Order: sequence, then C-alpha cells, then structure tokens
Amino acid sequence: MKGKKVADSKTIMTELIMPNDTNPLGNLMGGNLMRWMDIAGSICAGRHCESHVVTASVDHVSFQHPIKLGNVISINATVTRAFTTSVEIYLEVYASDITGANTTKSNHAYMTFVALDSNSLKPKKVPVLLPVSSEEQRLFKSAIRRRELRLILSGRLKAKDAIDLRAYFDDLD
Ligand SMILES: CC(C)(COP(=O)(O)OP(=O)(O)OC[C@H]1O[C@@H](n2cnc3c(N)ncnc32)[C@H](O)[C@@H]1OP(=O)(O)O)[C@@H](O)C(=O)NCCC(=O)NCCS
Repeated sequence: MKGKKVADSKTIMTELIMPNDTNPLGNLMGGNLMRWMDIAGSICAGRHCESHVVTASVDHVSFQHPIKLGNVISINATVTRAFTTSVEIYLEVYASDITGANTTKSNHAYMTFVALDSNSLKPKKVPVLLPVSSEEQRLFKSAIRRRELRLILSGRLKAKDAIDLRAYFDDLD
C-alpha cells in the first residue's frame, strides 16, 4: 500500500454559528462543536484510509474560549500517524467574527478512527503516513505515546507494556 502525506487528507470545515447551535448564554454548545469535530475528523481519516471509518476514541477536549453566536469557526483536521488499522487525527478549532478578524484558537483534540472493510465491516489495514515538515514529524513521533496512554485508559494495554510512554517519563526524571 502506498504511503500518503498529511496534505493528501487535510480537511477544513467552516461553520457559521446560528441561534440553534447555542446555549441560553448565546455561546456555541460544546456538544455541537464536538459533533462537527467528529465529522471533520472522520472526513480526514476517510480520505487517508480511502474507506469508511468509525470513531474509536476522543482524547481530552477542553474549551478555552467561548464561541459566540454569529462567529465563524474553522475546524482543521490532519492525520498525525497511521498505525495498523487506525489513524490518529489532530483537530484545531479557530473562531473569528464574520469579517474574518479577531481569530482565536478555541480548542484542540486528538481523535482515533478505525478503517472498516466495506464488505466484512471488520478493521482493515491503512496506508502509512509520510510526515514531511518538522511539525508533522513532531506530531508523528509523539503519537505513539498518546496511543499508549489512550489504550491504557481504555483497558487495552497494561501500563507496564507502554514502552515509549514509560521511556518518556523516565527521561523527564
Ligand atoms: C473501534 C472498533 C472497530 C475496534 O474493533 P476491535 O474488534 O476492538 O478491533 P481491534 O482490536 O482489531 O482494534 C482495531 C484498532 O482499533 C484500535 N482501538 C480499539 N479501541 C480503541 C480505543 N478505545 N482507542 C484507540 N484505539 C482503539 C486498536 O488499537 C486497533 O488499532 P491498530 O490496528 O491501528 O493497532 C470497535 O470497537 C467498534 O466498532 N467500536 C464502535 C465504533 C463506533 O460505532 N463509533 C461511533 C460511536 S457512536
């Protein structure tokens, strides 16, 4: 299977925040934002994997700044690393006013998607990612630790077997 670059699947979703998207304070509901992030992430993952994907996990999401009614948000989704049947996607959310000014970063998150074979609906192999820029290489390298942590938290990996994560913390000592 041919390797693919980050740029091959980069996905940008833009939404105008409407009254139906907000809470009683006039701010975007967190759940609505997470739904859009899930969609943008799955489009990005589907482009990389060239197949249908399902969301396997969503890492810690925190909301630093409220997004107001009438703001325009941009959700940027990129693949950080492909494993065997899964890919990690990095999502960044920016909000600006309708003129495109006053842009602030609202939040970011990592999500993991698994590619499914369309006949068997079983996980299928995905193309490797070929990171190019230094930032892409940084995210590629650190993805292994994030994967170990989320597999520990979901009960799929024992902490003692998290080799890269343990080495990382040992280096900090
Ligand atoms: C995700 C899913 C396909 C994994 O199926 P499975 O039978 O456990 O398959 P496997 O054990 O072979 O794991 C497949 C991949 O999923 C990854 N995975 C499974 N659970 C994970 C989790 N909680 N977090 C991160 N990755 C996970 C595995 O690490 C593996 O990745 P790899 O092949 O790149 O190493 C299955 O659990 C599923 O269908 N879940 C529901 C998905 C869904 O409906 N999402 C929307 C919720 S509304």
